[in-house]
Amino acid sequence: MTLAFQNLRKQYGDVVAIDDVSANFAPGMIHGIIGPNGAGKSTLINMTAGSYTVSGGSISLDGKRLDRLKKYEIANSGVSRTYQNIRLFDQMTALENLEVCFYPREVAGTLKEVLWPPYASARHARRREKCLEILRFFDLQGYADAEAGSLPYGRQRMLEIARALVCNPRVLLLDEPAAGLNHHETTELTAKLAALRSPERVMIVVEHDMDLVMTLCDNIIVMHHGKLLFHGTPAEVQASSDVQLAYLGTANDIDDIRAAAQDRRAQLGIRARRRS
Ligand SMILES: Nc1ncnc2c1ncn2[C@@H]1O[C@H](COP(=O)(O)OP(=O)(O)O)[C@@H](O)[C@H]1O
Ligand SMILES: [Mg+2]
Repeated sequence: MTLAFQNLRKQYGDVVAIDDVSANFAPGMIHGIIGPNGAGKSTLINMTAGSYTVSGGSISLDGKRLDRLKKYEIANSGVSRTYQNIRLFDQMTALENLEVCFYPREVAGTLKEVLWPPYASARHARRREKCLEILRFFDLQGYADAEAGSLPYGRQRMLEIARALVCNPRVLLLDEPAAGLNHHETTELTAKLAALRSPERVMIVVEHDMDLVMTLCDNIIVMHHGKLLFHGTPAEVQASSDVQLAYLGTANDIDDIRAAAQDRRAQLGIRARRRS
């Protein structure tokens, strides 16, 4: 089971946000997508989840075209996502935020639930237990009955990931899950995400926090101005001069930065000598 981008393209008016990107994402692995702001990372997530249409090329899962499906059909194919900006149902409890995810999928037995209350309550209890289990995994059980909007920011981030897991997704797309988290919370998140790796699941993490990406991911794609600049292991990415250029600017910029750093070191050296 592989998720594949083939010559993928996205244009917003005159802006080419994704330009001829091809990549395969194998299951059982955690794939990172990094790149400067505006590189097209969220656009890749949005197209995969069906939030945005595709301008060219294709996205497929197990050889089946996803980009031709409606958003709910993509979700029903097992694709789940979180958002760069948290999108919880603020006025519902943490538990309800998870429970609602079952309903669109379980419409099939609704008539039976209405006609036969014991069946409805057994089914409800099963859903509830599954959701509580996910909340416990994220150490959120203490917030089960609290309104989602009242949770501390870091817990809201966790709750959004918890919600994305309710349907046991085959493809899990996380758009900047560590955004706004402190160091301790990011470490906690890294451990949770590592535990979500499973042989059947494709995990894609878009993230700016390099510690998280380098610790967690098996493969990394580096995006730059809508193009796939580099694809490799964390070690290969760190060693790539192309990647360093994308992050720091042109070769001239890098020379300037090096010169400035040398100046600073020299100045500090002078001051240090003067102080001693
Ligand atoms: N809904 C949109 N309408 C128009 N332009 C957009 C939209 N979303 C993103 N873009 C543009 O597409 C490019 C890539 O954006 P995005 O995918 O959000 O980048 P990233 O997530 O890497 O920061 C940017 O130039 C951005 O301004
Ligand atoms: Mg983004």
